[in-house]
Amino acid sequence: MKALVIAASQRHPSQSAKVAEYIRRMIAERAVFSEVNVYDLGKNPLPLWDEGVWRNDPRWQRILEPVARLVTDADAYVVVVPEWNGGVTPAIKNFALFFGERETGHKPLWLVSVSSEINGQYPVADMKAFVSKNNKWIFIPDHTVIRFVHRYLNSPEPASEEEKLLVERMQYSLTQLERYARALKEVRRDFPYDDRFKYAM
Ligand SMILES: Cc1cc2nc3c(=O)[nH]c(=O)nc-3n(C[C@H](O)[C@H](O)[C@H](O)COP(=O)(O)O)c2cc1C
Repeated sequence: MKALVIAASQRHPSQSAKVAEYIRRMIAERAVFSEVNVYDLGKNPLPLWDEGVWRNDPRWQRILEPVARLVTDADAYVVVVPEWNGGVTPAIKNFALFFGERETGHKPLWLVSVSSEINGQYPVADMKAFVSKNNKWIFIPDHTVIRFVHRYLNSPEPASEEEKLLVERMQYSLTQLERYARALKEVRRDFPYDDRFKYAM
């Protein structure tokens, strides 16, 4: 199985990319997924979606080919998204527009929200309510909110009891991601896709 970690900040470097890299290492160490990749939307920004995507313009094919492969091949996703203006970044909403049920559908997603301050709950609400209808990914029951993100995950070993507990909680979420990834593979086997209903209600 393969995992894809998406760093959804538009900044580079970013705290989201730091956390994404930490999670990449966690996933690699547990060796349940045979491959884990990071796609950093700050380092490799996608242009804003336009109708050329539907026309398969060669320009878009060139841009999307490498990322589409990562997205389609993945059996599970981790989205690390900062709170911006009380919600998710435009970058992750734009990213979601390029993919649909056949690429992202019926695959588990672990949502990790970060904030430099006391917030971080709004991206969870935003993603769960407004960034899943057509992508049809499945949020695992637990999400992670990392407040004051600059203080945490700056080195492989936890720097405090508080960080140790955070990492243990993240390991527990990762266990869920692994289990759901295995189970949902079965759901996708011979899935009877019907493109009339690819846009959910
Ligand atoms: C444009 C912008 C808007 C932001 N809006 C919020 C916000 O609404 N709530 C919040 O807690 N932090 C907000 N922040 C601060 C981010 O939480 C902080 O920069 C965090 O480190 C973002 O992660 P990043 O480094 O991955 O971009 C904002 C930052 C930026 C750049």
